[in-house]
Amino acid sequence: MFQFTLYKKIGLLFVSFLLLTGCKTSSDEKFINRKVSFNSDWSFHLNDSIKDKDTIGASTQWRTLNVPHDWSIEGKFDEKSPAGYGGGSLNGGLGWYKKTFKVAAADSSKVTSITFDGVYKDSEVWVNGHYLGKRPNGYIGFQYDISSYLNYGDKNNEIIVKVDNSKQPNSRWYSGSGIFRNVWIETTDKLHVAQWGTYVTTPKVTTENASVNFETTIQNQNSDSKKATVTTTIFYGVGSDLRRIKSTNQNITIGANANQTIKQQIEVPNPILWSVEKPELYTAVTEISLDNKVVDEYKTKFGIRDFKFDLNKGFILNGKQVKIKGVCMHHDLGPLGAAINTRAIARQLEILKEMGVNGIRTSHNPPAPELLDLCDKMGFIVMDEAFDMWKQTKTKYDYGNDWDKWHKKDLVDQLLRDRNHPSIFIWSIGNEIPEQWSETGITIAKELAAITRQYDKTRPLTAAMNPPVNMNIDDVTLQFEKKNVQINPLAASGILDLIGYNYAHQTYEHHQKNFPNTPFIATETTSGLQTRGYYDAVSDVNKKWPVRWDLKFTDGNPGNTVSAYDQTQTPWGSTHEATWKIIKKHDYLSGMYIWTGFDYIGEPTPYEWPSVSSYFGIVDLAGFPKDVYYMYQSEWTDKTVLHIFPHWNWKAGQTVDVWAYYNKADEVELFLNGKSVGVRSKKGDDLHVMWRIPFQAGTLKAISRKDGKTVLETEIKTAGNPDNLKLTADRSTIKADGNDLSFVTVDILDAKGTLAPNANNEINFSLKGNGKIVGVCSGDPVSHEPYKGNKHTALAGKCLVIVQSENKTGRLELTAKANGLKQATIVITTE
Ligand code: GAL
Repeated sequence: MFQFTLYKKIGLLFVSFLLLTGCKTSSDEKFINRKVSFNSDWSFHLNDSIKDKDTIGASTQWRTLNVPHDWSIEGKFDEKSPAGYGGGSLNGGLGWYKKTFKVAAADSSKVTSITFDGVYKDSEVWVNGHYLGKRPNGYIGFQYDISSYLNYGDKNNEIIVKVDNSKQPNSRWYSGSGIFRNVWIETTDKLHVAQWGTYVTTPKVTTENASVNFETTIQNQNSDSKKATVTTTIFYGVGSDLRRIKSTNQNITIGANANQTIKQQIEVPNPILWSVEKPELYTAVTEISLDNKVVDEYKTKFGIRDFKFDLNKGFILNGKQVKIKGVCMHHDLGPLGAAINTRAIARQLEILKEMGVNGIRTSHNPPAPELLDLCDKMGFIVMDEAFDMWKQTKTKYDYGNDWDKWHKKDLVDQLLRDRNHPSIFIWSIGNEIPEQWSETGITIAKELAAITRQYDKTRPLTAAMNPPVNMNIDDVTLQFEKKNVQINPLAASGILDLIGYNYAHQTYEHHQKNFPNTPFIATETTSGLQTRGYYDAVSDVNKKWPVRWDLKFTDGNPGNTVSAYDQTQTPWGSTHEATWKIIKKHDYLSGMYIWTGFDYIGEPTPYEWPSVSSYFGIVDLAGFPKDVYYMYQSEWTDKTVLHIFPHWNWKAGQTVDVWAYYNKADEVELFLNGKSVGVRSKKGDDLHVMWRIPFQAGTLKAISRKDGKTVLETEIKTAGNPDNLKLTADRSTIKADGNDLSFVTVDILDAKGTLAPNANNEINFSLKGNGKIVGVCSGDPVSHEPYKGNKHTALAGKCLVIVQSENKTGRLELTAKANGLKQATIVITTE
């Protein structure tokens, strides 16, 4: 009976309840849902000239929108943008948001708080004219208790949010501007679990038993003390498979207007462990009861897993060695900008998982909570990073200016917010922090390490350092014993649990000599550069950019392209193959986070304007994989892979290099128009094979074989003139919830259905039904066409259009047209 009731309760917990006007909570409702979305129907006005909230009423130019919202992505690329090329040449500014809302009279005896998951940046908030506070850091969540400023019942309330991203530059990459993450209203009893009030750890884990420890902070906002019971129950599974595992109770007496932290423990027999392959989650439900009536309920997802970083064996998860095959990600979602959308994040992670990625580094700031939830569910090893700078700024108006006043609170809040996520395995206290070389830096690092360990001792701490050893020497063996080799003071300080390398792959094989007592993690690697679908006909694995630090890439390729053979790298990085070959070789090299999984807006290294987005991604800005994606897939997954490139549209007789990535085979034979041009096998630590052949129009076919038997066959054909468009949706049924997205790929094909690899037609989109087009993108770093619009120019025969549902079920009909090409239509169902 108990189990049934509780099961029903949990079922309810998964449903969002509207407590605000329009959807009141009935007073006899047994179980209280604390959190409801506060995203819809905001008014927004971008105006640098209005500096004062009292004058915003003078403006008539408000428009209604839902948050998460990023106003910078709606703007035009601007060569002179104060954000600079690093910031993606998109402008910031000063934005105002306001919203009118009612709160049910019944809630006047409760506590009502508003939570912003992230507002970029320098937000200030007022409710009914009362100033609630300011939060400079755009990437951290914050909450205000608004109970005492609210009108309850029929009277309106007004919330005003000022967002000041006008001081530029303040970021090395595209930040976005605005209320770019979710907003929530939380309504609780005056006796409730505090914000981020649970801390779940699993200190002892075996296959037979896991001890699960709970530290729960209860907040009493009543003016009298309370005698209450705190019950923590562990559940496993979801929906109809939800099973109650065990509960524990504790009686407490909590003083008036006081907080109290209690400790509880539950033993879970035969725990189902969280792993990368099977990310199994448990749910802890904390109930607070007064006189046998539940007054508050708080849900915490957690995982049971055991891990360590071993000096010799690297990363060990549940007793098994797991190589961390990670990527760094910035927070933007390509054409959607920095406004978070859970489906868009999930799609990025799905594409990365298909490639074999098992780790994400949240470079270089706390991510959206939804990213961590997805990593928990999908099985990624997350390095959660706090800062890109400490006190010393990297750009004129960045967070370094707020360091003294805010760093402690920002770090503590990140730890409290994130520490229950089973996907997080590493805390990073900073990326390439200039102070790493000085005494000041060591003092700051000690402070940050002490804070981190105060709030979580279960995960190791690192910093993404510039080379932990001085590489400015001729001797490339780079061991300390050698003359002139110095150790990075932060690496030498003994503060870090893991030595975090950014680049410096030449030193990895000396790690055990250089740091005999501290395990290894490559916090950032590679920085290879590629434009999807563009190739210099002949590859050159020794090609580096720039050859010298003082050279600019002014002699680069036409259209600011970078050849997509894995041949172009930054001077501080390596080819994709070079770093992976080293990491793969030694168990003690626990793994790596490649710069980057996806291209991102801004930092268009090696070029500057007119390039506006990065070339570093293994996947482009639209979500289309570059070729090297398949190198990793052949190495990192169990899938059978055979991928050949480039395209097959060249000048007659031109010499062209054909590369193949493959696995599970001894050899690959290549045929041009039916004639063999040779059999190739990877030798030693090779990760690809190559043929250098004269171009002849027709069909290039590759066959991989094992023990003489065909494993896979693939072919590419010379395309004729572009003839028609093809639309393919990643999901042709989406939720009618006003949020869900369908990502539709447009391929430009010749009359026989072959992708036209050089087609760059402008494509026009139209949509019928209850939905809208929310983004268009080709992945071209040089494109200045808006990401918000109904047309876009394709790159290398491909383009992406993103369709969003509204709140109505039905049928969406998307049509794509381009001059001279046959149009295409696709239907997406919303339900
Ligand atoms: C690193 C830095 C990253 C990015 C990258 C580009 O040094 O940590 O944020 O700038 O270089 O190669």
